Amino acid sequence: MSETATIPPGDETGPERLRAAVARPQRRDTRLDNYVNRYAARTHGMTASAIRALFSVANRPEVVSLAGGMPNIADLPLDVVGSTLGQLVVDDGRRAMQYGSGQGEPAIREAICEVMKLEGITAHPDDVTVTVGSQQALDLVTRIFCDPGDVVLCEAPSYVGALGVFRAFQCEVAHVAMDEHGLDPTALREAIEALRRAGKRVKFLYTIPNFHNPAGVTQTLERRREILQIAEEADLLVVEDNPYGLLGFDADPLPAMRSMDADRVVYLGSFSKTFAPGFRIGWVLAPHAVREKLVLAQESATLCPPVFSQFAIAAYLANHDWRGQIKIFREMYRERRDAMLTGLADHMPAGTTWTVPGGGFFVWVTLPPGLDSHAMLPRAVTARVAYVPGTAFFSDGFGSRHMRLSYCFPTPERIIEGTRRLGEVLEYEAGVNATFGTVAADEGTAQLGRAYDAPGANQT
Ligand SMILES: Cc1ncc(COP(=O)(O)O)c(C=O)c1O
Repeated sequence: MSETATIPPGDETGPERLRAAVARPQRRDTRLDNYVNRYAARTHGMTASAIRALFSVANRPEVVSLAGGMPNIADLPLDVVGSTLGQLVVDDGRRAMQYGSGQGEPAIREAICEVMKLEGITAHPDDVTVTVGSQQALDLVTRIFCDPGDVVLCEAPSYVGALGVFRAFQCEVAHVAMDEHGLDPTALREAIEALRRAGKRVKFLYTIPNFHNPAGVTQTLERRREILQIAEEADLLVVEDNPYGLLGFDADPLPAMRSMDADRVVYLGSFSKTFAPGFRIGWVLAPHAVREKLVLAQESATLCPPVFSQFAIAAYLANHDWRGQIKIFREMYRERRDAMLTGLADHMPAGTTWTVPGGGFFVWVTLPPGLDSHAMLPRAVTARVAYVPGTAFFSDGFGSRHMRLSYCFPTPERIIEGTRRLGEVLEYEAGVNATFGTVAADEGTAQLGRAYDAPGANQT
């Protein structure tokens, strides 16, 4: 730490040398982290993913990365955004660069209500709290509702960033099975009953109804109604996370769950996928009492969400055809989705199945029995293709027979090439498996309901 700072420079002989040697930082033990005994218990759940190191390699240009979920903002009209921001500084810079309201600026909250109308939500700007992306919304919602040991129900699989938040707040995650129509209502009912019988406090259901990350599937309208009915019977809060809802390829968006139940659903939205993630603006729409707690939590976390970003997005929405821009994004992602599906159909070995997303960024792949996506990632990266192993999306080690592939970022040609390389790796692994008969580690370890059974919408 600061020991060496007091040693004057000079001849390192005699007493000087001794002093310098004594003052040199001494390695006192072999632990990498000398602070390990000081951390709060909740930080023990905060661990770097074992696959992080591989991803620095995966980001090299020669690797086709089907791993990252970064929005592709190449089609954003930078001239329009640039002139909007320039004008904002000239016209309103003193307000836009000042502290603001903990709840978020009125102009953006009004605009957010307009955006939500596209998914059937009628809301008042007073009930919207602006957040630093919907990631912070997840943090605030968990902060105000969950004590250590409380249970959060999540789909199986679920968004890795949400699982990280739940872990950081020392919640238990109970995964509930899903299929190609989204969360399975029967499994949900069983999970709630089993947890309550076990004396657990279930705080909320966390669900991503549209173009699920990572499963790529969408909850049908009937399922939404049924899940809300179950939530009502069980007096359960629903947290609806909807960053991809406006990025559907074929049909108009389905009504948000929040549009069907304003009292039971806390809704999370984001501009990260429909505009740009760098502004870090998301929001929570919550019943009035919950909103008050959220604002207090937001004030203690950040004082206020970034004011300049809020003004910038409000100005962009006011001055630009943002609906047309979302349509451009949708077409671009659809082309990539199609390339991914073509590549998978052409290159995956027999026994591999995958979901067919109607929007969003992700395809969820189920490997033939015996293959382990986590174990084979180094081989895949060596073959210059990367993906995220399914285990990242479960809190309980399940998922090694699955992987998430993202089609949002690479060009269609690169996506096809990525699936070709992946197909070769899978063929090789299947050959090794046939010879040596290795068995995948997870077969049905989700502790509640069925283990996630991939939809198998397509099969080679
Ligand atoms: C399901 C889901 N929720 C929340 C987020 C967080 O997004 P942001 O904080 O950029 O709004 C993401 C990002 O990928 C996501 O996929």
